Amino acid sequence: MNRVFCEDALAGLARIPDGSVDLILTDPPYNLGKDYGNASDQQTVEEYLCWTERWIDAALPKLKPNGSLYIFLTWRYSPEIFVMLKKRMTMMNEIIWDRRVPSMGGSVRSYSSVHDTVGFFVARKDYYFDLDAVRIPYDAETKKARSRSIFIGAKWLEVGYNPKDVWSVSRLHREHSERVDHPTQKPLEIIERMVKASCPPGGVVLDLFMGSGTTALAARRCGRHFVGFELNPDYCAIIDARLAAEDAAAVLAAAAVAEDDAAPAVKPARAKATKAAKTTKSATAKATKAAKATQAAKKPAAPKRSRVPKPPEEISI
Ligand SMILES: C[S@@+](CC[C@H](N)C(=O)[O-])C[C@H]1O[C@@H](n2cnc3c(N)ncnc32)[C@H](O)[C@@H]1O
Repeated sequence: MNRVFCEDALAGLARIPDGSVDLILTDPPYNLGKDYGNASDQQTVEEYLCWTERWIDAALPKLKPNGSLYIFLTWRYSPEIFVMLKKRMTMMNEIIWDRRVPSMGGSVRSYSSVHDTVGFFVARKDYYFDLDAVRIPYDAETKKARSRSIFIGAKWLEVGYNPKDVWSVSRLHREHSERVDHPTQKPLEIIERMVKASCPPGGVVLDLFMGSGTTALAARRCGRHFVGFELNPDYCAIIDARLAAEDAAAVLAAAAVAEDDAAPAVKPARAKATKAAKTTKSATAKATKAAKATQAAKKPAAPKRSRVPKPPEEISI
């Protein structure tokens, strides 16, 4: 528990006891040809779908009877994979993650794809689901607009609204403070919402394809346990660094609170935590740099572009 194993998910799954997991939250390779430092995203369609069915069959027995599963996909293979899952579970939602991609360029012979398709599946009717944990508060303007007497004391106005099934959350662009060196890193905001809604506090989240460790980090932040796998050792180093930085930040925050109450006693603890936070921050940066260097070393040098001289500007007479 609370470990990400640097190994093939299918091999690692065999060690997880059946019926021990509250939530499978996973973001497998999409088979779009991405480079994760392995060939997992570059399979033939048959190989990919066959492999997907194998890991689904190995993973589902790990769920508790009231457990759930979220799976990130794209439009390309979500139809086939949703059908596979619908034969084994009940589909509750297709969530559209609108990545808020700015309108620039893109496809010229079709519409630019700017969303991920996420499937939400449950094993049984009495599945765990805590809507109150993920409600979105109404803004002050809406509350004000509903200030007439008929709305006073209205519970729905106070508790906020259901997030619905279109989630508009910006992707993590290069400058984003959360961003590490992984090509398909998911925003914590999205993963934390799924964890809070579908895994009870103290429960266990399983992610077979951890990537940069977003699921592990979200679980830790939300007071849930996690377990998972990642093939690429460079990404495993990033995961370790992200988790260590999170722990150091938590110690720092606790020390700051305690300092207010009993200043002299906790100062050494705070100094220690600050040092740990600095060390882990630089470890994250190092892991990211190392991953970049490894990726760069693997990539063949891009061929030099020949310069095409610009035609002389037309003169209108
Ligand atoms: C779409 S990414 C996950 C990104 C992740 N959700 C995040 O926020 O960073 C899929 C990951 O699965 C890993 N992977 C591919 N095949 C695997 C396997 N058989 N076992 C474990 N990990 C694997 C890839 O290396 C890649 O990092």
